Amino acid sequence: MPASMIGIATPQAMVNDGRVVMSDPDFEARRKAVQEYVKPDDPLSWDVAWKKGVTPWDDGIVEPSLMEVIEESGIAFPRKGKVLVPGCGAGYEAFWLAKRGLKATGMDISETAIEAANRERNKYPQEIVDNSQFLKVNFFDIKDISDEERYDLAIDHRQVSHTKARIHCGRELNISIHRFFVAIPPSLRNDWGRQMAAFLKPGGYLINIIFPIVPPVEGGPPYTVRSDHYDGPLGENFEKIYDEVPTKSSPTHEGKERVQVWRRK
Ligand SMILES: C[S@@+](CC[C@H](N)C(=O)[O-])C[C@H]1O[C@@H](n2cnc3c(N)ncnc32)[C@H](O)[C@@H]1O
Repeated sequence: MPASMIGIATPQAMVNDGRVVMSDPDFEARRKAVQEYVKPDDPLSWDVAWKKGVTPWDDGIVEPSLMEVIEESGIAFPRKGKVLVPGCGAGYEAFWLAKRGLKATGMDISETAIEAANRERNKYPQEIVDNSQFLKVNFFDIKDISDEERYDLAIDHRQVSHTKARIHCGRELNISIHRFFVAIPPSLRNDWGRQMAAFLKPGGYLINIIFPIVPPVEGGPPYTVRSDHYDGPLGENFEKIYDEVPTKSSPTHEGKERVQVWRRK
């Protein structure tokens, strides 16, 4: 049976700007650890991994590649407005964006992740507290995002304790923070693209931190990802304006990362 059929990475592949990347045994071990708890057909199983403390994605930092694209790419991202961070985990990027003056909403299906984000939130000055909020919700379950609610969103979902929560969500700058797209089964990628289109107002931005770009593997999470995997889900409603290998990456991301920016049509 080929290695790829049993979930082992092939030893090398040309994955990033023509460079050949070798498979990384440490990365494979972390991937296997996650897969022990996170089941593709049960998104709530993410909470099991969080509860077990199996969160190898959690570097405790804002990825340098995200800071680079926002601060140095020359793209005129809004300085004010609302930012959505789906699959936010412990919320590092949401806090960083809140510090920059944006109204950040982090969403995560894991109660434990949201608790961790809220614990962090309590440590921040009032301004950051006011600019950030975290919701335990399945990203795909949020429906009926109407134009009339451009800067707020009504949520009716059993995982949110109240039936209608007004949240300062998405619509101006939307960050699909790293490792959310790769965390969802590929069969949901078109739904992911539709959901992003629903969240963003025309002219809004979507930033994709694409990681880990490693030799192809069967299964996930994380699932195999390439820059062109975003073209189908986003092509109809977004225009791609940026697709680069970052010059600044954290040590775990180096050589395995790209950054894209898409603008909502
Ligand atoms: C690989 S982790 C990345 C966390 C964080 N973005 C980071 O990079 O540190 C993926 C996150 O997405 C969350 N998640 C997975 N499926 C989700 C869904 N359908 N809706 C909301 N969150 C989801 C998981 O609970 C997990 O915290």
